[in-house]
Amino acid sequence: MTVQSERTLLFVKPDGVMRGLTGEIISRIERKGLLITATKLLRLNKAQAEKFYDIHCGKPFFEALVTHVTSGPILAMVVEGPKAISVVRRLIGKTNPFEAEPGTIRGDFGISITKNIVHASDNLENAEKEIVFFFKKHEILRYKKPTEEKFAF
Ligand code: CMP
Repeated sequence: MTVQSERTLLFVKPDGVMRGLTGEIISRIERKGLLITATKLLRLNKAQAEKFYDIHCGKPFFEALVTHVTSGPILAMVVEGPKAISVVRRLIGKTNPFEAEPGTIRGDFGISITKNIVHASDNLENAEKEIVFFFKKHEILRYKKPTEEKFAF
């Protein structure tokens, strides 16, 4: 059976960046064996945040969500690997940190449903949309892990 390689979009929210958790989060992604093929530290403005989260427009938490994600820097990244979309969702844990399992990013570090440390795409269609939202094609790199290279000894 072959497992499909996928790419997904993850960003560390301002609470995660400002609490100094980006290294920990990157480390968990790398230790899982996934590849980070693009990264960008940026700050979203209100219009960009409203566009990114337009699916939640009108929901009671929308304003708080936009206020939070525009409150400071975010670290966006493209993550690639076998079943990357579902694997990353499992690594980050449930949306509500109070329900997220210990051992997951939100379960270990989250303090509120708004300040839940990270966002990651929930399906293939959204992953592609969200990647294009943050990254131009040339900003996404292709490379192999050294362990996948063939060496001449
Ligand atoms: P995220 O994965 O970025 O997707 C939408 C965000 O809305 C979610 O994480 C939460 O930070 C935020 N949010 C706030 N309240 C809720 C809620 N009741 N249900 C879902 N998401 C919520």
